[in-house]
Amino acid sequence: MDATVVFLIIFPLGVICVNFKNNACSNFPYYYIAAFSDHCSYNPDVLSTVPAMVERHGYNVKRHSTTTDDGYILTVFRVTSKNKEPTKSPVFIQHGITLNSANWVDISNRSLAFRLADEGYDVWLGNIRGTTYSNKHKSLNVNMSEYWNFNLDTMAQKDIPSQLKLVANETGKAGHIFYIGYSMGATVAFMYASEYPEESQKLIQGLVALAPVVYLNGIRKIELVKPLILSVIKFLSVKNVKGLFYHETYIHTYLNRFCKNVAQIGCAQLLNWIFGKSVQFQPEDLLLLFSSFPTGTSIYEFEQYVQIAQSKNFQKFDYGKEKNVEIYGQSEPPTYNLSKIKLPVRLLYGEEDSLTSQENVDRLYKEVGSTNKEKYPTPVNNKNEAYNHIDFIYSKYLEKNLYEKLFEILDSQFQEN
Ligand SMILES: *[C@@H]1O[C@H](CO)[C@@H](O)[C@H](O)[C@H]1NC(C)=O
Ligand SMILES: *[C@@H]1O[C@H](CO)[C@@H](O)[C@H](O)[C@H]1NC(C)=O
Ligand SMILES: *[C@@H]1O[C@H](CO)[C@@H](O)[C@H](O)[C@H]1NC(C)=O
Ligand SMILES: *[C@@H]1O[C@H](CO)[C@@H](O)[C@H](O)[C@H]1NC(C)=O
Repeated sequence: MDATVVFLIIFPLGVICVNFKNNACSNFPYYYIAAFSDHCSYNPDVLSTVPAMVERHGYNVKRHSTTTDDGYILTVFRVTSKNKEPTKSPVFIQHGITLNSANWVDISNRSLAFRLADEGYDVWLGNIRGTTYSNKHKSLNVNMSEYWNFNLDTMAQKDIPSQLKLVANETGKAGHIFYIGYSMGATVAFMYASEYPEESQKLIQGLVALAPVVYLNGIRKIELVKPLILSVIKFLSVKNVKGLFYHETYIHTYLNRFCKNVAQIGCAQLLNWIFGKSVQFQPEDLLLLFSSFPTGTSIYEFEQYVQIAQSKNFQKFDYGKEKNVEIYGQSEPPTYNLSKIKLPVRLLYGEEDSLTSQENVDRLYKEVGSTNKEKYPTPVNNKNEAYNHIDFIYSKYLEKNLYEKLFEILDSQFQEN
């Protein structure tokens, strides 16, 4: 039976089942008996917040905010080591779609933000509009459909520069910021850097794309859900619903209960189905993921990804011929010209990732205009442990398989310019 069907059948069960304290088990089946099992324990980071997690693990956290020129109030967290002042450049990390910056601090000492801080970096965690920490606006609120009138282009044009300028301003390190973008965090970085090549060079020293989602040609997962996504979007538009998943507290509490009770057949299968086969996802981390996933998202983000897959172009939002003419002065949406990007670029991609493919990564690599660019399968030279999409956040082998390469890039490869 298809995993989605299983999920739909199992879904209502979560509500009837009991709740209990243990929330991290060393193997999926133990979740069924989590209340009594020695293989399960309580992890305080489940359903926690970014500031609480950072403090709990002994780092400094400061909350900064910036308001975009269209009124969205975004939060950027600064994470630094308690023992020493940062000695290295700022690193700005941008999360993926339906996620938030908790991904970089929620797996204790394996967390990317903590490891970068240990290495002396000054770490800044971005949060895209609509998500958990960036869901405020000067005059709108998330219950209003107008709030959700944005797409990937808007995020690239507004959220990315606002956040980078905040980091540059606070650190005085304009031009020396390392940008790490995961999945959609990479999509919007490539949009931003090709639309504003000069400005991006004045802010960013190098761009690392983890699991880069840019071209989506022939991605089976998207082909498969495309009709579903398009009809759901159509249905929602008729109802004037443009935002999804923004009742986050309710959703995360519910999913945590649900996944505790039916973890193995429900939630774990769902992950494999969405992100590609994982041999590296630790059962202990299951509820951490469902503490930050999903987050508030505009339906237009999904729609634009489907358009990009369909058109085989890395392009702006397609409003339909008539409105395109009004907005872009042409009936087809403009494509992003990646050859304008002159920043040093590194692509780290997984060979088990269901949302990227070798062909699409190669095309992106070829088209980026930088002379200083490299692409690496993750982990380099180890096909047996090839990453799927979510391994970039939760793999149990992050240090050996990803961070070593990442530190090499930041510490030496990007320094040579
Ligand atoms: C993380 O902590 C565990 C013990 O809690 C330790 O075994 C491991 O070496 C630590 N990892 C790093 C990268 O510091
Ligand atoms: C949005 O609506 C929900 C449910 O009606 C309510 O609990 C929440 O406070 C509202 N949020 C805002 C920002 O108005
Ligand atoms: C830059 O930082 C200063 C002081 O930290 C602050 O007063 C100013 O508003 C900031 N400007 C921008 C554009 O963020
Ligand atoms: C893309 O940008 C390059 C460099 O600026 C330019 O030479 C080329 O004509 C552009 N391509 C398109 C399709 O606009």
